[in-house]
Amino acid sequence: MTALCVESLSAGYRGVPVVRGVSFSAEAGAVVAVLGSNGAGKSTLLNAIAGLLGVMAGTVRLRGQDVSRQPAHARAREGLALVPQDRGIARRLTVAENLRLLPRRAGAAVDAAVELFPALGSLLRRPAGLLSGGEQQMLALARVLVLEPPVLLVDEMSAGLAPQAVESLFEAVRRVVEQRRAAVVLVEQHADLALELADRALVLRHGEQAIWGTAADVLEHPEVLESTYLGGTR
Ligand SMILES: Nc1ncnc2c1ncn2[C@@H]1O[C@H](COP(=O)(O)OP(=O)(O)O)[C@@H](O)[C@H]1O
Ligand SMILES: [Mg+2]
Repeated sequence: MTALCVESLSAGYRGVPVVRGVSFSAEAGAVVAVLGSNGAGKSTLLNAIAGLLGVMAGTVRLRGQDVSRQPAHARAREGLALVPQDRGIARRLTVAENLRLLPRRAGAAVDAAVELFPALGSLLRRPAGLLSGGEQQMLALARVLVLEPPVLLVDEMSAGLAPQAVESLFEAVRRVVEQRRAAVVLVEQHADLALELADRALVLRHGEQAIWGTAADVLEHPEVLESTYLGGTR
């Protein structure tokens, strides 16, 4: 059964839809890249799927079950995890403390995080706010991955990071998809990297879907992607 299925979803702020009529799906063991310029509605879409923002119309299904009217914590219990654009880590707490907040035996969460990202091993006592951008993003991703969610939404994982950090984050996502058969939805500014990893891609323009197809479809129509990015903000 399809891990995540989004149908005709509309969402926005104060009664005004920003994302309109978006439909796509993500299968277990596959990656969907969500692309689009700044302000296209990528974060709004992910937040609505996660339940942080109300769904104005349409449905979100997790393994066939309609969760559109369920609060975020209920969707999380059903296996939906979000790494938000602001990373969602507690900056004043240490790396280890951030991991111990998880609903998993504390030591196990720390061990699992270090196994995923060995670089975190020597940073456990450092306040998260003092980590580099790449290290913070590793922590943000580790916090979510140690819970082994079947559906993972990641918003702008690599924005502003050094190429080497970006590489190790993409590698971690690739492993999770292959080894745990997670369904991953990846919002990315690095369209080239995302399309390399992704099976399918959703291109958003002004809150509406310009393309929903295979990554190869998108690569075959570079003009669409180009105009999407050059098309600027709303
Ligand atoms: N909290 C908010 N209140 C009102 N408008 C918002 C809010 N967050 C985002 N928007 C607007 O929604 C549109 C889409 O934003 P967003 O989903 O963040 O785009 P993206 O993630 O693709 O850059 C933008 O016009 C933005 O100004
Ligand atoms: Mg965003």
